[in-house]
Amino acid sequence: MQHTSASQSKTQRAIELEERYGAHNYHPLPVVLDSGLGVHVWDVEGKRYFDFLSAYSAVNQGHCHPRLVKVMQEQATRMTLTSRAFYNSVLGEYEKAVCELFGYAKMLPMNTGAEAVETALKMARKWGYEKKGIPAGQAKVIVCEGNFHGRTITIVSMSTDPDSQGGFGPFTPGFEVIPYDDIPALERALQDPNVCAFLVEPIQGEKGVYVPADDYIPKAIALCKAKGVLFIADEIQTGIARTGRLLASCHQCGCSCATGLCENPDPAKRPDAVILAKALSGGMYPVSAVLANDEVMGVFTPGTHGSTYGGNPMGARIAIEALAIVKDEGLVQNADRLGRVFRAEMQKLVDAYPFVKLVRGRGLLNALVIEPRTAADGSPRTAWELCLLLRDNGLLAKPTHGDIIRFAPPLVITEEQLLEACRIIAASVQQFA
Ligand SMILES: Cc1ncc(COP(=O)(O)O)c(C=O)c1O
Repeated sequence: MQHTSASQSKTQRAIELEERYGAHNYHPLPVVLDSGLGVHVWDVEGKRYFDFLSAYSAVNQGHCHPRLVKVMQEQATRMTLTSRAFYNSVLGEYEKAVCELFGYAKMLPMNTGAEAVETALKMARKWGYEKKGIPAGQAKVIVCEGNFHGRTITIVSMSTDPDSQGGFGPFTPGFEVIPYDDIPALERALQDPNVCAFLVEPIQGEKGVYVPADDYIPKAIALCKAKGVLFIADEIQTGIARTGRLLASCHQCGCSCATGLCENPDPAKRPDAVILAKALSGGMYPVSAVLANDEVMGVFTPGTHGSTYGGNPMGARIAIEALAIVKDEGLVQNADRLGRVFRAEMQKLVDAYPFVKLVRGRGLLNALVIEPRTAADGSPRTAWELCLLLRDNGLLAKPTHGDIIRFAPPLVITEEQLLEACRIIAASVQQFA
């Protein structure tokens, strides 16, 4: 980065403050962001970048979408929080909008992704005891190797990532970990009559955008239904148009989500429960939700679950608008079409440079795998260094698991912008060679 001395001090000051007073639970790329609009963000010295992380797919609707800013401002002067001790004038409208859009009977509003995952786990266990007759304290949830479902003690209890889990025991029991994208392993695990649920990401985002075989999700859904086990899709990162469908778990349902609604809402082919967060609020506010049918959600009765902020009118109003934007601006279709353009452009790099191993993804959730190397002068050439070059050239992305760079721009990106971003990536890869 070529900083002026004044802006360098702004950048340095922001970094130093975070380093000195903040817990070191992240390793950010050295860039200090100050504002954003649409697909772009600006740092404290006024340099503009393409945002190709989108706050881990929370900003699908683009930064500071004017419609979201407007409803947020309006709602902020009207009412922000009532608690669930009372009804509020927005929550019911929000619940209706979500249930109708995704085709589920009921939803339960929470705030962060991890809270919604916890909610789904509690729901699955209680359903297992009350509806399936699992003996008390014996309910088991099947999860996959390489999963990422959040950071609470219970959630890291089912993680296979040593960084997420190490040092945080004792862990919550009741999970069985099986390999991802492995139907025979799921079949075996489902033999246990005490299994209440299979919790899975339709694409493993944090793991490095691992896309399973096309028939994995449909087959897993069918197996779970046959065994009376809840299939729970964690769509926190993949949902809400990111992968070119409203939900990534509907890729094989046979519809194109062209109307913005599922055209084939066959309960036999759909997850029993879906977990949403991130883009549910377009990055404006922490909003998450669990969706399920009446029988499953019915296990929650007054006093069994809740959250002070869950379902607050501010979050609810923003989420209604965020979902309307997805439909009005055709973000499902944009992600589907431009995702193909992006992968075709990246494939050119895979063909041209041996250290660019592969591109994979769906819609606008994609990753490049970069083989780590050492330059002639002994300096490292890893995905991290490439991300620094990308930053210098005006595009922000972050490595995940060392050698993988995830590319996930806001879904409002135009083809012209996408091609400009691809030129930046190509030029950076060439510099990196
Ligand atoms: C698939 C998935 N599940 C759960 C979470 C946790 O969400 P949050 O960070 O809002 O708790 C994430 C966050 O990256 C995620 O990608």
